[in-house]
Amino acid sequence: MSIAIKTQDEIEKMRVAGKLAASVLDMIAEHVKVGVTTAELDAICAKFTADHNALSAPLNYGADQNGEGGFPKSICTSVNHVVCHGIPSEQVLQDGDIVNIDITCKICLDPEDTPEADKKYYHGDTSKMFLLGNVSPENRRLCRVTQESLYAAIRKVKPGTKFSELGGTIQKHIKKAGRYGIVKDFCGHGIGYVFHEEPQILHYKNGDDRKMAEGMIFTIEPMINLGKGGTKLDKDDGWTAYTIDGKNSAQWEHTILVTKTGCEILTHRSEEKEIAKLLNN
Ligand code: MF3
Ligand code: CO
Ligand code: CO
Repeated sequence: MSIAIKTQDEIEKMRVAGKLAASVLDMIAEHVKVGVTTAELDAICAKFTADHNALSAPLNYGADQNGEGGFPKSICTSVNHVVCHGIPSEQVLQDGDIVNIDITCKICLDPEDTPEADKKYYHGDTSKMFLLGNVSPENRRLCRVTQESLYAAIRKVKPGTKFSELGGTIQKHIKKAGRYGIVKDFCGHGIGYVFHEEPQILHYKNGDDRKMAEGMIFTIEPMINLGKGGTKLDKDDGWTAYTIDGKNSAQWEHTILVTKTGCEILTHRSEEKEIAKLLNN
């Protein structure tokens, strides 16, 4: 399978989608506090997204032909030992929790009279960790090291870099930081008007020697565990992925465009001053 090179028009649309997803994370920050339920956060994000003429891509994602089995909510909220794909619920956030909120917006920028079947919805996909109150030093460090590993990988993105550099860089950073487990059961992905497309972005050492080229767009979204890297799926809901040993997990995600000289973080937030400086954009 080949990796798509986006047109200038598609890139413009991906910029809009990426900015919107980033703005959802900015918007939700003040609501993420002790005592709130993850379902409340879901409702706020869903409304904000709809108010911006976009859709929440997770809602019903992966449903079968009968419309069943799809993801039941608009965002993913993964608390403590949930690795990813946590389903918003009546769970109340507690002091000391670490929470990943993963936002994927999709937006159609075609003329309004475009027939529904011809419309294309462009995706912006991004997540970050929120730390509630008195988070232990161990958990703080987990979140920081995971974010650093994402940034280290992003700095490698430019035309000619092999995709294997990304996982190699993340693994090197994590190994240097200590005895963490790298999750291998989930990966980053190409993204456009399709939510998940080629290539798969592995977050560990691998042999993908395909090279990046200007106009490619993909996510990098490392998941790092305090204990072992293994995961198990919730038997009842079929979505929630837990760490195999019950220890906590962290994840950060950005959607990245390969430019002529390096890359552009399509989901960059204004709070991320440092990485912007490093990338010179
Ligand atoms: N946003 C996730 C990703 O980074 C995918 C969520 S799919 C869902 O790829 F169905 F679980 F929402
Ligand atoms: Co993603
Ligand atoms: Co995501």
